Amino acid sequence: MGAEMVEIDPVRPATRLLDDLGARLRAGALVAFPTETVYGLGASIDRPDALRRIFEAKSRPSTDPLIVHVAGIDALEGVVDGVDDRALRLADACWPGPLTMVLPRGPLVDDLVTAGGPSVAVRVPAHPVAIGLVRAAGVGIAAPSANRFGRISPTTADDVRDELEERLIDGDTILAGGPTPLGIESTVVDLTTHRPTVLRHGGLPWEDLVAVLGHVDAPERRVVGDDVLAASPGSLIRHYSPDTPLVLVEGDEQMADALIRELADRGVVARLVGLPSGPEAAARELYRTLRAADRSGVSLLLAVVVDPAGMGRGVNDRLYRAAHGRGGAECVAGSVDRLEMLARA
Ligand code: TXA
Ligand code: MG
Repeated sequence: MGAEMVEIDPVRPATRLLDDLGARLRAGALVAFPTETVYGLGASIDRPDALRRIFEAKSRPSTDPLIVHVAGIDALEGVVDGVDDRALRLADACWPGPLTMVLPRGPLVDDLVTAGGPSVAVRVPAHPVAIGLVRAAGVGIAAPSANRFGRISPTTADDVRDELEERLIDGDTILAGGPTPLGIESTVVDLTTHRPTVLRHGGLPWEDLVAVLGHVDAPERRVVGDDVLAASPGSLIRHYSPDTPLVLVEGDEQMADALIRELADRGVVARLVGLPSGPEAAARELYRTLRAADRSGVSLLLAVVVDPAGMGRGVNDRLYRAAHGRGGAECVAGSVDRLEMLARA
């Protein structure tokens, strides 16, 4: 038994199905659902029992706050404590879409959602299933990515099943609504500070934020220790990690291929995590390609960083974090000796 996998039309989801799932969410069930970014694991924001089960199912520390998904800016009443001019302009330009805003929290949000903090992260997803579900529930839906903590985010329902099936229970649902169109998570921007600041690069390019707000701080790589509580815990360095050690190449595929041949001469089987060119295509394929490469049984993975423009920033951010799963501080390819050591560790 456990969670039921239910097919849903990603373009025109059936109203009856959405209504049934909305009722289940209100009653405290968990529903994994596709968004335009990645699959989320959702619970109603006023069901502490269900919220607690999200943290358990993911093995997520309770210090890591959740994103609340709402149907539109009108649905923020009580969820946030006021929407300033910057948030209004961003909502107007970017919602529905892959943008999460961190705002002062309102009275309707449980402490479990905000990790007890003074702010709450909110977004309006641009996917017929996600938006339909939130509307049918009639309440904000807290949903982190539907993977175990620190691992690769799911872009298909099968990924969700592989990550979480045995951790969900009767009455929970995994919606199968096809692959997610963007492939990496939303961009998170903090609007509680004087200067808007990107906490996580993602599906909405930083350039688009700048076009709306004029100035947006965006620390390039947020490298913090695993044991440090970061402003946005998604910025913990070890994240999105495959089990196979991954090392990045700050160069081109020829460089990576040359390293792979040298390793082969030493009896080490390494493989390139080959991404399509262009930031959007690379984002779309990133997690699927990482998962497949991780399952291929090689001893070392190499990936080439992409052009850091548009969604490329989000892609590189995920690659650096995925590479930190095993390689320690040396996530960027150095000597072949060092690569051989990593592969044999
Ligand atoms: O695209 C997405 O955002 C997906 C889909 C399902 O919507 N969700 C997602 O959730 O990626 P999650 O929980 O995997 O990542 C949420 C990120 C984390 O880095 C978390 O620390 C940060 O948002 N976050 C949430 N609430 C916050 C807050 N109040 N202040 C700062 N960061 C916050
Ligand atoms: Mg996540």
